Order: sequence, then C-alpha cells, then structure tokens
Amino acid sequence: MQIDMRNIRKTFFGAPVLKGVDFCVHSGEIHALLGENGAGKSTLMNILYGLYKPDDGTITIDGEEVSIEDPRDALSQGIGMVHQHFQLVNTLTVSENITLGLRETGYPFSKRKLIDQRIKELSETFGLDVDPAKLIKGLSVGERQRIEIMKLLYRSAKIFILDEPTAVLSPPEVESFFNVLRELRNAGNGVVIITHKIGEVMQISDRVTVLRDGEGVLQSRLEDTNEHELSKAMIGRTLTQREHEIRSIDVTSPRLVLQDVTIHDGKLSLLQNLSISIAPGEIMGIAGVDGNGQQELAEAIIGIRKLSSGTITFNGNKVDGRSIIDRMNNGMGYIPADRHNDAILLPMNLNQNLLLKKHLDPNYLNHHFLKRKKAESTTKNLIKEFFIKTPSENTAIRYLSGGNQQKFVLARELDSDLQLLIAFQPTRGLDLGATDFIQSQLLDLANRGVSILLISTDLQEIISLSDRIAVLYKGENMGILENDDQLDIALVGAMMGGKRLENQ
Ligand SMILES: Nc1ncnc2c1ncn2[C@@H]1O[C@H](COP(=O)(O)OP(=O)(O)OP(=O)(O)O)[C@@H](O)[C@H]1O
Ligand SMILES: [Mg+2]
Repeated sequence: MQIDMRNIRKTFFGAPVLKGVDFCVHSGEIHALLGENGAGKSTLMNILYGLYKPDDGTITIDGEEVSIEDPRDALSQGIGMVHQHFQLVNTLTVSENITLGLRETGYPFSKRKLIDQRIKELSETFGLDVDPAKLIKGLSVGERQRIEIMKLLYRSAKIFILDEPTAVLSPPEVESFFNVLRELRNAGNGVVIITHKIGEVMQISDRVTVLRDGEGVLQSRLEDTNEHELSKAMIGRTLTQREHEIRSIDVTSPRLVLQDVTIHDGKLSLLQNLSISIAPGEIMGIAGVDGNGQQELAEAIIGIRKLSSGTITFNGNKVDGRSIIDRMNNGMGYIPADRHNDAILLPMNLNQNLLLKKHLDPNYLNHHFLKRKKAESTTKNLIKEFFIKTPSENTAIRYLSGGNQQKFVLARELDSDLQLLIAFQPTRGLDLGATDFIQSQLLDLANRGVSILLISTDLQEIISLSDRIAVLYKGENMGILENDDQLDIALVGAMMGGKRLENQ
C-alpha cells in the first residue's frame, strides 16, 4: 500500500499552516515526520486521518485519488492514528476499549471470549504484552499506548500514524516500544512516527520527511542523510550544545532559604529535612529521577503545600503560612511542570490566560477594577518579545503548539518584578529551537539578578545551566555540588540513585 499526499494546503483563521506539502508513506517502512513545534506535523497527519479537510491538494492510495471524510473512513481504508493524548475509557477493560464502537461485538450476545482470543494472538505476534481482562485504570502510560496500537491492529489498519509517541515514555519504555514498531513494519505495515527528536529519527526510521513552517524541506532515505543535515533542515540553522559557563555568585546573603523543610502525607514522608539556599542571580539546579519530591518542593515554596515542619525564608522574611498571591506579589514566579493542568486554561485566549495570573496583581488593578486595556497591550507585547507564534492575542491557547504555549507561560511569569523563579521542567516536550530560547531567557534572568530554582529530570539541562546542583532522592537532599570543571557527572548519577555525599 502506498499513500501519496500532494501539494496539501491548510489555513487556520487566515494563517497558512501547510503551504503545499508533499508526503508519501508505503507499506514496510518506518517513516519519521520531523519538525519543530508548530511546523504542521499533526495538522498534516490529521488531514490524512480525516480529522481536517485540506483546502487544496490530493491524496492517492495506490495511485487512486481518494477523499477521506472522517477517522472511521480513514480506518476503512487502512489508515489508523494514535494521538498525543490517549482516548481510552478508564472504567472499561482493555478488551472493551479495543472493541468500543465496533458492531461485530455481537451485543447482546457478546463474543467476548473470541475477541479476547484474537487480542491475545495479536499481542503475541507483535510483542505488545496486552492483557484483555485488565481495567485501563491502573495501567502505565506505556501499556495504554500499546492498547491504542492494538485498537488499530484489531481494526486491520495497514498504515499506523503515531503522534509523538515517545514523549510520554521513559528511556527503557522507548526501547521496547521501538521493537513493537519494528515488528509492525516487518509484518508489512507502514508506520509514520511524528517527532522533533533527531536521535529517534536516526535510531528507528527508514525514511524521513522534514517540515519547517508548513513546508516540506527535506525528504530522504535515512542512509542518505545525517544528524547535521536534519537539524539544519528542521530549524534552518545549526544549534550547538550549550556550554556551561562558570559564573561567580556571591552566596553570602541568600535570597531564599529552606531550613529543614519536611512534608508528611499521613505516614509517608514526601520531603525530609530539606535545607537549600539560593543567592541573588544564582541558578540552583535540582536533579533527580521524576517523583522524588520535586513536585512537593516546588509547591512548598510557592505556597500550594503546607510544611509539616521547617521554615522557608524569602528576602529575610518567613513566608510559610503566607498565601500564594502574597508570595507572587512579593516577587516569586512559578512555571509548573504540567502546563495543561496547572498553568493555562486551554479554551481561553491569550489575553484571558494573562489575566488568570494578573487579576490580583496591584499593577493591573485600579480600585479593584481590572485594567483591561493594559492587559491587552501587555499580551501583544509579550507575543512580540517572545516570538510566540499565534494568529492573534484572541486565539484560544489550545491552538498554539506546545512550544508556543510554554513560551507564553514563561513570558507571563517574566512580566513582573521577579526575584525568584521556580522553573519546573521548563523545556519538557519542546523542540531544539524553543528549548534554546527558553534556556537563554533563564540565563538572562539570572544575569539580571533573579534567583532561579531549576527543577529538571533532564540532567543535561541541569548541568548546562546551574551554578550549583542539589540531588533529590526519596524526598531527601543527597548533597550539593558546585557545577565547576571538577563536576563528576557519574557522582551525580549515583546520587540520583540514592548515594549521599559524605562531608555534608
Ligand atoms: N484547529 C486549529 N485552529 C487554529 N490553528 C491551529 C489549529 N491546529 C493547529 N493550528 C496551528 O497550526 C500550526 C501547526 O500546528 P501543528 O499542531 O500541526 O504543529 P506540530 O508540528 O504538530 O507541533 P508540535 O510539535 O508542537 O505538536 C500551529 O501554529 C498551530 O497554532
Ligand atoms: Mg503536534
């Protein structure tokens, strides 16, 4: 089976998102669709899956022109897609989810046994390790993803489109996931993997198409290209790895001091006797494997969580017990890790999302009335200053790509007299260009005297930005290291696994 998309065009609200793109995928290959945030990758594949109609262009399957009306139609022509956000019903079993919406289940005389048998067979053939009897609730992200793929297999898809499938997986999960993709290909299916990670393209794909700003800029077999060429095609310039720059910081009068901070949840200890201080202009990196107290640490400082014991001092004043708004109005800013749940409201536009943060900020209030005009012009300025790609300030933020949403969250925090910024996974899910932009903004801030608590599970990011590094393990600080040319990266790794520095 061979699918050809020719000269595909799509415009949203007057903004061209696909400007005449050609794309072709066939059976027996893994094809990477590479591009930065907002390049148009999801839009192009959503068109192939029947979610959007192209404004112009043709789609042919095995040489015959087709029109794809909706996802059901796409599936009947052998095309299936797994989206970035899974579509599974938590309270149903794996088997029920897989057959959801299919007529053949034989209701009311369910053929569940036969169905489960078929699921088990498919599971074995493709190494999916899916148990039909389990409830979705309680399954890991990796398992859920395999069930989404099983749904497509069960519907006899021949071309599998996967939208950034690895973004939600841990490194070992990625390995076994790639094996599933190879099985799919070896069985004669076609796989399209959407990604912005060049390393993945090199590791898994047979061919690659690069999109930049809505245009197809490169199409190549993998053996005919290389990382350098791909990176250049994707971002239009080459980016080099950021070198850590050793800065001299005066740590004698810290701005933020945590003293023996402990947080219990029932018997569970989430943070244990944590003591950390951050000086003006300093970037303190918090390394650690996800789930070792990072969330609690950020929430304790900004005021979402109460301390069980210990104190937090900010500019010499004790802040524990004070409200979040009070802390923010005194110069604290927070970029949460989970931007969709904690930072923005997707259906609201950029202006409204700005006001979410500003509606209690004295700079935006005039006797309790909001200065709407001021907020609007601020939003416009931030869009310009931070190169946020959006049709307008009145566009719902859900239509912005991930990188542009994150730029907005950062911009909104920076638009106040910041003294301390808690940056929690500030570049997760972002492409190279957006990552580079956000990281240089953080460095600029520090150079202007803002203290930064950089919490990241990306050790490379911690090492390239931080002045000092603390390592969290099971809610405890394993020690604090100077990030100078003596830094022993293997030691940081060991501390992430629970090794404690002795002299501290
Ligand atoms: N339904 C929509 N309405 C308006 N604009 C949209 C819509 N869907 C996408 N866009 C815009 O189209 C552009 C391309 O978006 P798309 O989601 O295809 O990018 P992407 O390459 O998948 O990016 P990412 O890596 O962030 O997922 C973006 O600028 C986005 O704001
Ligand atoms: Mg996308």
